[in-house]
Amino acid sequence: MGGGDPCGSPPLFFFLIVRSIVTDVGEGPTTSENAEKKPASRYTEDDFETLISDEQIRSRVVELGAEITKDYAGRQNELVVVGVLKGCMLFMADLIRHIDLPLACDFLRVSSYEGGMRSTGVVRFEFDLTQTIKNKDVLLVEDIIDTGLTAGFLIKNLGIREPASLKIASLLHKPARTRTPVEIDYLGFTIEDKFVIGYGLDLAGLYRNKREILALRPDRA
Ligand code: PRP
Repeated sequence: MGGGDPCGSPPLFFFLIVRSIVTDVGEGPTTSENAEKKPASRYTEDDFETLISDEQIRSRVVELGAEITKDYAGRQNELVVVGVLKGCMLFMADLIRHIDLPLACDFLRVSSYEGGMRSTGVVRFEFDLTQTIKNKDVLLVEDIIDTGLTAGFLIKNLGIREPASLKIASLLHKPARTRTPVEIDYLGFTIEDKFVIGYGLDLAGLYRNKREILALRPDRA
């Protein structure tokens, strides 16, 4: 799933070790564990298989947009859709085009790494919103909620800014990895504990531009 710096493109073993530390749990007997043996540059598209197709994503995004439109229709507050970069970018771009309401967009980026090596266990802002959200309806958009650490932090942090409302839309949810339970108001798909990329999610900075969600094949890790 998302992580790593596309400019730096660190080796996969580094990326996976950091992810393991951040979540404070082992990856378990998953494909990710074996993937540490192989640098990211040696993976090809053949190592991944489609988990959620382009068509399935587009169909679900239409449904979510309609649901959000219905829920927010008639509200007097300004609606601000807040994307959590970088993974949100494709989902948010598609989702807002199916919300048939006036809305504003803003973005933030957070990190739970300190110096890129070890997690402090504390999520910190790399950059924050460009506007106040007080008395506004805020819809936070994530590509995936994995442990829930990021979303849990953001709900608390944005909540104290006194928005009129604060909800979460996430394309994916991996309940098997939950450490901080988070209520997801608009969810695209629940997935198993698989290493996924595409449609915004990266592998060491790559593959965010894939149209579908791909999972690392167990026999290719
Ligand atoms: C991913 C994803 C979420 C977070 C979810 O971001 O976009 O923000 O991890 O994980 P969690 O539920 O365990 O906190 P990442 O830090 O990989 O950055 P990216 O969006 O730039 O890929």
